[in-house]
Amino acid sequence: MGPAAMASRRHRICMIPGDGIGPEVVAQGVRTLEKACAAHAVALDIEEYEWGAKYYDRYGQMMPADALSVVESFDAIYFGAVGSLEVADHVAVWGLLMPIRKHLDLFVNVRPIRCFAGVKTMRTASPQDVDMVIIRENTEGEYANVGGRMYQGENEIAVQTSVFTRRGTARIIDYAFRHAAPERGVQSITKSNALAFSMTMWDEVTRDVSARYPDIPCERLHVDAAAYRMVIAPHTFHTMVASNLFGDILSDLGAGLLGSLGLAASANLNPDQSRGLFEPVHGSAPDIVGRGTANPVGAILSGAMMLEFLGEDEIANDLRGAVGQVLGRGLGTPDIGGACSTSELADEIIQALR
Ligand code: NAD
Ligand code: IPM
Ligand code: MN
Repeated sequence: MGPAAMASRRHRICMIPGDGIGPEVVAQGVRTLEKACAAHAVALDIEEYEWGAKYYDRYGQMMPADALSVVESFDAIYFGAVGSLEVADHVAVWGLLMPIRKHLDLFVNVRPIRCFAGVKTMRTASPQDVDMVIIRENTEGEYANVGGRMYQGENEIAVQTSVFTRRGTARIIDYAFRHAAPERGVQSITKSNALAFSMTMWDEVTRDVSARYPDIPCERLHVDAAAYRMVIAPHTFHTMVASNLFGDILSDLGAGLLGSLGLAASANLNPDQSRGLFEPVHGSAPDIVGRGTANPVGAILSGAMMLEFLGEDEIANDLRGAVGQVLGRGLGTPDIGGACSTSELADEIIQALR
């Protein structure tokens, strides 16, 4: 009997490698996940779906018509990246990733930013002081996709409307408070000086939710000032809660603090319905595709977040430990100054798994 047949627990995973470096990093993610799980007699039943730009080229859509019912039948989704030079970005994104986030109502996007010993960053101060998580609203706000374009030429008009619901705002801010450490509190990201409707409601909801968590300090910051302070004093952030667009932008800034976008992981969650999609923060990186140099760590750590979601905390910790150990030895792909290829770095991580 092979190890998979002897497994004590099994999880059904929908794997969507997607475009560009997505398949390159997800392949290494799956190798490390399977190795880490095997040591605990846990099996992953992974089904792969080749949706994305190549699918679009053949069928004129990014995924099949029944795709949303397919993805919702799994325990979790492991996703690479979407985006290619052949399909317009907005067509690709709104044909694949956004419908899944919205259909499964994955309203929480968790993006931890924790520096790794051994990885050089631009900052001279101790990198260990960078330990924050961005809680990004993931289904509405600036990404409501409401609007239109009229007329052509000089008279053209483009309208792009944000939609903030009180319910959607309250549930993401409440999630942040529920998961915040009392010592360091919540930083609520606003821009209510300029956005006098959506962000004033955001501030009111922050105030109301905060009143229910009297032990958790709450700070309100405008997004521009937050971006500045993340660079100058990142240790002052712990649990940031932000709208869809602000959270998107600040999470790439956060990845910059880590030293590379290739290191950042994320979980798209609906905690009420136990649904989750796990993907690196980065995109399809067409500038490095096919070279075998993409950093797999963001994908591997997204896999660790998926294991935690599936209740496999111990395996998730093993994976994080192995990643930390390998990066701590100064190993890495070129984006962090290393000489490893994508698969070589994954080999090292697999070796480091106890
Ligand atoms: P990107 O994240 O793909 O790349 C930005 C920069 O970071 C590039 O220089 C790239 O080489 C580098 N980079 C990213 N991931 C890396 C990794 N794992 N290892 C080493 N370097 C890495 O962002 P972009 O260039 O703005 O977008 C490219 C495409 O990806 C676009 O089509 C965009 O819409 C899409 N995109 C998709 C997602 C997603 O699937 N969640 C996220 C962001 C962008
Ligand atoms: C991300 C990406 C997506 C987003 C793009 C591909 C629409 O940048 O996951 O951070 O903005 O959510
Ligand atoms: Mn992004």
